[in-house]
Amino acid sequence: MAKKQISVGIVGLGRAGWHLHFEPLRTHGEFRIAAVADPDPARCAEAAGLTGCATFGSLDQMLGATDATLIVVATPSRFHYTDALRVLKSGRDCLLEKPMAITVEEATALADAARTFARRLFVHHQHVHRPEYHHLKTVLKSGVLGPLFHFRAFWGSYTRRWDWQCLVKNGGGQLNNTCPHIFSIVLPLLGSKVTSVDCEMRNIKDVGDAEDHVDMTLRTEASVTANLVVSSAVAVTSPRWMLFGKFGALECNGKTSRLRYYDPEKAQKLTIVDAAPEGRKYLTEELPWVEKQLEVEPPGGVPSFHQNVYDVLSGAGEQLVTPESAVDVMRVLEMARQASIRQPVETAEETPVAG
Ligand SMILES: NC(=O)c1ccc[n+]([C@@H]2O[C@H](COP(=O)([O-])OP(=O)(O)OC[C@H]3O[C@@H](n4cnc5c(N)ncnc54)[C@H](O)[C@@H]3O)[C@@H](O)[C@H]2O)c1
Repeated sequence: MAKKQISVGIVGLGRAGWHLHFEPLRTHGEFRIAAVADPDPARCAEAAGLTGCATFGSLDQMLGATDATLIVVATPSRFHYTDALRVLKSGRDCLLEKPMAITVEEATALADAARTFARRLFVHHQHVHRPEYHHLKTVLKSGVLGPLFHFRAFWGSYTRRWDWQCLVKNGGGQLNNTCPHIFSIVLPLLGSKVTSVDCEMRNIKDVGDAEDHVDMTLRTEASVTANLVVSSAVAVTSPRWMLFGKFGALECNGKTSRLRYYDPEKAQKLTIVDAAPEGRKYLTEELPWVEKQLEVEPPGGVPSFHQNVYDVLSGAGEQLVTPESAVDVMRVLEMARQASIRQPVETAEETPVAG
């Protein structure tokens, strides 16, 4: 028997609204795109041409007329809070693009509104549905590395940007744009709540005033530290993830992981030598190292974000990205913002030539 389709409305038909939602939802089978809204009539007409959906010039017009029960909010970041609040108040479930909001207060108010109006709020932290997160979680859970004491993430590339995302007034910059994805993976893996953040944000080469380089260190209640470099100003690469445990470490490039660890039960018991070592020799030992290479992609894959939305709304699955986990991402984002010192750097063209 064919599954019941969920009727969807999408507001904002730009890069995210079109490529990350309209396209996958129109071919999903378990969703039906009933309506779209965008101030650009050409974008609406293109959507209607492909699906026969109703079209509107604004979210309010769409909410007043559509029978869609799930609304995807993919408008520019500064509208997320007000748009998602309108959707929840109208009695619809909401799939909200990241960043969840501009401030943690707004994000908390959205999670509260979802509870008040008894609606589901899905924040699009789609990396939680990607194999890397599940792979890192599985390795940590296996215990082979021993207790985690440090986490390192490098999300770097070199790309120049000059769109609206380069302006602070629009909620642009790497912290709002990319860090929600990284936090959505890192925070649940750290094992306890983040209690402090050091952060430096800089504009190295983008046009505009928003940061294109973020370097931060998080510290948890249990004293695990995480150094995260999130940058579009780095022209070389480095391992994407490094996990340091008491008995070993993992290095992962997103596709494969290299593990090196030992079983402490198989190592000799050490007692301290509190004197000058005999023969002026350093005390050395051979540890029973195990080295492994693992594929990141699990057999059978991981269900997509949209599949999880469908499963949750049809009562057949648990929500992987909860509003509370998304608020925690915003809480740490806010701590990073508070800790940062903005240091705009002049571009080469603007730097006066000496002599
Ligand atoms: N999850 C991800 O990986 C991911 C990737 C890209 C963008 N995003 C997020 O998606 C959001 C949109 O980014 P984008 O790159 O698609 O932007 P965009 O500029 O490409 O598209 C924005 C769209 O919204 C429309 N729009 C503008 N104001 C509107 C309004 N008031 N009501 C309705 N529609 C309006 C525009 O006409 C445009 O079609 C941002 O918050 C961004 O952070 C998320």
